[in-house]
Amino acid sequence: MMQEKKFQFSYKILEDSHALADEDAALLELARATTQKAYAPYSGFHVACAAKLANGSTVVGTNQENASYPVGICAERALLAAVGSGYNDEPILTLAISYHPVNGSSNRPVSPCGMCRQALSEYEKRTGTPIRLLLSGMEGPVYVINTIKDLLPLAFSEDDLC
Ligand code: THU
Repeated sequence: MMQEKKFQFSYKILEDSHALADEDAALLELARATTQKAYAPYSGFHVACAAKLANGSTVVGTNQENASYPVGICAERALLAAVGSGYNDEPILTLAISYHPVNGSSNRPVSPCGMCRQALSEYEKRTGTPIRLLLSGMEGPVYVINTIKDLLPLAFSEDDLC
């Protein structure tokens, strides 16, 4: 017998950051401003994220590239390293992500790469609290996604290790 399952998720698309609550708008503005701190001389693609933690703290991360290309780290995992190192298991409630390409426009959201989805998924599971994502360019629409689970169906986790 064959079974078929369907995966679907819903997310919000806001026209721009003005449609966000003040605290979310401020977090997105911080992510946008923090793109200046990215070190991306090879790709020219400056990514930054800003997290609001359950204890009220705000933490940022940026991509940090390397002349040995695969050594570079994405903004999201740089942020997770900072949160994991400085705050023990403090849940991330909201994570705003933005980007600034040196040559090109930034007026539509981009979403985290697969490796970062895996890393965010583990942090979400570890803390037992969904990470809400705000995705947006330097201007334009904002995607609001409720949990990393929505971006990584059938995720691999510690439960699969034997
Ligand atoms: N990058 C991120 O920082 N986050 C993502 O989710 C996608 C890609 C970085 C990696 C690399 O430094 C540059 O963007 C171009 O891929």
